[in-house]
Amino acid sequence: MSFFEMRHVIVQFGGLCAVCDFSIALSAGQLVGLIGPNGAGKTTVFNTITGFITPDEGDIFWQGENIRAYPAHRVTASGIARTFQNIRLFADMTVLENVMVSFHYSIQSDFLHAMVGSPKYRRVEAEIREKSRRYLYELGLGHLSSEKAATLAYGQQRRLEIARALATGPKLLLLDEPAAGMNPIETIELAALIRLIRDKYGVTVFLIEHDMKFVMGLCERIKVLDYGKSIAEGTPTEIQKDIKVIKAYLGSGYYAAG
Ligand SMILES: Nc1ncnc2c1ncn2[C@@H]1O[C@H](COP(=O)(O)OP(=O)(O)OP(=O)(O)O)[C@@H](O)[C@H]1O
Ligand SMILES: [Mg+2]
Repeated sequence: MSFFEMRHVIVQFGGLCAVCDFSIALSAGQLVGLIGPNGAGKTTVFNTITGFITPDEGDIFWQGENIRAYPAHRVTASGIARTFQNIRLFADMTVLENVMVSFHYSIQSDFLHAMVGSPKYRRVEAEIREKSRRYLYELGLGHLSSEKAATLAYGQQRRLEIARALATGPKLLLLDEPAAGMNPIETIELAALIRLIRDKYGVTVFLIEHDMKFVMGLCERIKVLDYGKSIAEGTPTEIQKDIKVIKAYLGSGYYAAG
């Protein structure tokens, strides 16, 4: 069995088939992209993996289990983390607190709440603070630890979301348009950062992105969705030459333009 696999996943919204018979297999440590036009069903694929939507049909295999009907918190606990296309941060909390909250999710907060004020609580809290700081420095946000999340620039908020996702200790990391709203320099830095995260933490990365330079330069394999259906899968070079992909998404000028 594959490290992670989706088989024949279908999601219907009323009469609309948002994801129609989607299958994919990911190997451990791979960096894989999911691309396609607006409304193709990319975010819906991530929503099925992370328990935000239970697919109408199909299976999702992870760590030897079928997680298709798992609720979101159970998916997180099983080692899958995500970021959101529409950034979801606690705007009024500090940057550091935003990461610390992620740890609380992953270490049974009931248990922690029961101990509030005790020496053990303070020790665990100090450990969480220290680890959270480390993730923030890794993501280039260490100097902003005590700022409110809402004051961060857009690109910084996207990196804070990645820090929060990493804090849950994932083996599979899903990034929904991580470069959206970033300038070209931030985008190049983000690609290097994602590679570093993959190498250092050994996580498998599955990402959605519209910035083709970013996707083609970063991903080892790419899956293309159009109207809920997979129309191609291959290396960046194969995808750029694929006539169906050019017609549906990249446009005829793409290949010639490099
Ligand atoms: N909760 C929902 N209820 C009804 N329809 C939905 C829902 N979520 C998504 N859709 C529809 O399903 C289709 C796929 O949406 P999805 O957000 O997955 O696309 P996407 O590929 O992520 O697009 P984009 O690149 O614009 O983010 C769209 O037609 C969208 O309007
Ligand atoms: Mg989307």
